[in-house]
Amino acid sequence: MRMIDIIEKKRDGQELTKEEIYFVIEGYTNGDIPDYQMSAFAMAIYFQDMTSSERVNLTMAMVESGDQIDLSDIKGIKVDKHSTGGVGDTTTLILAPLVASVSVPVAKMSGRGLGHTGGTVDKLEAIEGFQVEIDGKTFNELVNKNKLAVVGQSGNLTPADKKLYGLRDVTATVDAIPLIASSIMSKKIASGADAIVLDVKTGSGAFMKDIEGAKELAHAMVQIGNGAGRNTIAVISDMSEPLGFAIGNALEIKEAIDTLKGQGPKDLEELCLTLGSQMVYLGGKAETIEDAREKLIEVMKSGKAIETFKTFVAAQGGDDSVIDHPEKLPTASYTFEVEAKQDGFVSEIIANEIGIAASVLGAGRATKESEIDLAVGLVLNKKVGEQVKKGESLVTIHSNREDVTDVVEKIYHAYGISEQTVDANPLVYDIIY
Ligand code: URA
Ligand code: CA
Repeated sequence: MRMIDIIEKKRDGQELTKEEIYFVIEGYTNGDIPDYQMSAFAMAIYFQDMTSSERVNLTMAMVESGDQIDLSDIKGIKVDKHSTGGVGDTTTLILAPLVASVSVPVAKMSGRGLGHTGGTVDKLEAIEGFQVEIDGKTFNELVNKNKLAVVGQSGNLTPADKKLYGLRDVTATVDAIPLIASSIMSKKIASGADAIVLDVKTGSGAFMKDIEGAKELAHAMVQIGNGAGRNTIAVISDMSEPLGFAIGNALEIKEAIDTLKGQGPKDLEELCLTLGSQMVYLGGKAETIEDAREKLIEVMKSGKAIETFKTFVAAQGGDDSVIDHPEKLPTASYTFEVEAKQDGFVSEIIANEIGIAASVLGAGRATKESEIDLAVGLVLNKKVGEQVKKGESLVTIHSNREDVTDVVEKIYHAYGISEQTVDANPLVYDIIY
């Protein structure tokens, strides 16, 4: 087989065989196929698209390019959740203990991330003593015992994706649905999931800015997941304004604790119930989605969900007293209120701008090497649709520096205030099976 013939075949819009796709991915991973040929190949896919079976083969070739996590020692159906990323998205921290409370095993591998705040692993490290580096055997044992454990990413997962993503980034081939969908799904499948619930976000704070694009990506990923033998469902959710109130690492831990107790922001709670009921259903612990939802509401009300979180934190070496005493979490030295300049209704909160404001405070990483400040961040006091009076606080800034002029400016830029009443966007647009 020759790479040039495969590029030509794709360029001319023909369907590639499984053998051809594996030849490309294996050759690119081990260095036999150079970047320039792979660039041409990615561009051919960009213009010619891929059929369903090509997408599944591309995904599985990338899965098999590196290590695959073996979760077979864990009893039950392992359901993983993946979000395409947003601002203040605290859902993992809530969903994991929530669905574990109804006996769905959650074996979560999480990253640190380069977003506006840290990833799930960074957030958990806001809890004194919490250990994310645990070996595979301990990890499996913890999931069997408590139904929940979180481990930091390690090993050599999907090296083909890593290499190809880097190349796509500099060759204008990131925005190709078959490439995005196979990239995301290869990582989920290599992490050992039996079933997958995807949260595909749309809006200013999301990777896919418009609903049509989000739906197309969701359909592509669901088709790949099901084609690869993993039951997959996608929820299309809104990310035009940030989710919940808190954006920041320790602040989001506190928000997760509140939500697990049934005292969190309503939008965040609702999205967690929507995603969670899909997870419980796929995990085989409920007959219907409605039944699953009722079970989740029950564990929130009874206190079982927060107990599961406590047990999980203690099992990984963390100080579980923070759950009853969230004031023990890292706290910033200063708080500042950003006050409304006029009466009216909040008409928009540009999620991406709020994310950047949190990031410049130090809540996120600019580069892989940067340190995050776990204490800092923002708490939104007004969300879209709410009435506001001049002088009322829109946002509370938690900062470790005294001058936050730049952050205040970004927040004013993100907030729109109108004289007329405004409806918030729907939280969930669609669910794709
Ligand atoms: N996120 C990924 O993991 N891969 C892509 O290709 C795009 C976004
Ligand atoms: Ca939040």
